[in-house]
Amino acid sequence: MAQIIDGKAVSKQVRERVALETVELKKNGITPGLAVIIVGEDPASQVYVRNKEKACEEVGFYSEKFALPESTTQEELNALVEELNGRPEISGILCQLPLPKHLDDKEVINRIAPIKDVDAFHPVNVGAIMIGDYNFLPCTPAGVMELIHSTGVDVTGKKAVVIGRSNIVGKPMAMLLLHENATVEITHSKTADLKAVTSQADILVAAIGRAKFVTADMVKEGAVVIDVGMNRDENGKLCGDVDFESVKDKCSFITPVPGGVGPMTISMLMQNTLTAAKIQNNVK
Ligand code: GUN
Repeated sequence: MAQIIDGKAVSKQVRERVALETVELKKNGITPGLAVIIVGEDPASQVYVRNKEKACEEVGFYSEKFALPESTTQEELNALVEELNGRPEISGILCQLPLPKHLDDKEVINRIAPIKDVDAFHPVNVGAIMIGDYNFLPCTPAGVMELIHSTGVDVTGKKAVVIGRSNIVGKPMAMLLLHENATVEITHSKTADLKAVTSQADILVAAIGRAKFVTADMVKEGAVVIDVGMNRDENGKLCGDVDFESVKDKCSFITPVPGGVGPMTISMLMQNTLTAAKIQNNVK
């Protein structure tokens, strides 16, 4: 039986670290501030946004929520982002995705000042990650790296396989593993003989968005398995991309869903907002 990586505990450590630094910043009159924009009524997005606000409160940040109606136009959304770019008490801007269909997420992301782009979605920040010279790391892959570090397993020289090639998780995930000297392979739905690739992985990150897709036969004995998935199973129960019950007996470490990667994402957002506030106020 693998050791279960406790995402809640690691996440709490990150938030405690952020909260402590925030106390120090506040002594110098600096309060990190996060603006969260949500357009429309998507219930999952509403839950995420509420959790982001709660986390801000927990670590001592200022936060402001902009809940815009479904009927919001691109021009109105663009104007809000421009306004927030210019407000000094707002260190970070996050526009919750997905946006309603009539709105273009690229246009919004490209408009966020890169120094306030705490999601690290702006092309300037994506490029910075590519060359390893960045201010912010995208929250989910950064959270995964923290979880891997918490196992004590050294990434250097390991074979890491990422399942999924999204801009938000798969691609930056591969880059972060590469920065830590793993030999990385990105796989996806069109990969030939996926099992042959995944079963060689010392570190396997599943971010494919399919319930219980990764089964024990796809996993190397003793691997570290990180599950980024957030799906519903046939009974409507929350589950990951990994078939936890079968895989847990084969790997050395595994993240549960819920309670694994999920709690980390928001903690890394807090970390990025703190970093943004420090850079904007010339604090080392
Ligand atoms: N929707 C789901 N995950 C995310 C995220 O990390 N950032 C934003 N902005 N929207 C999301």
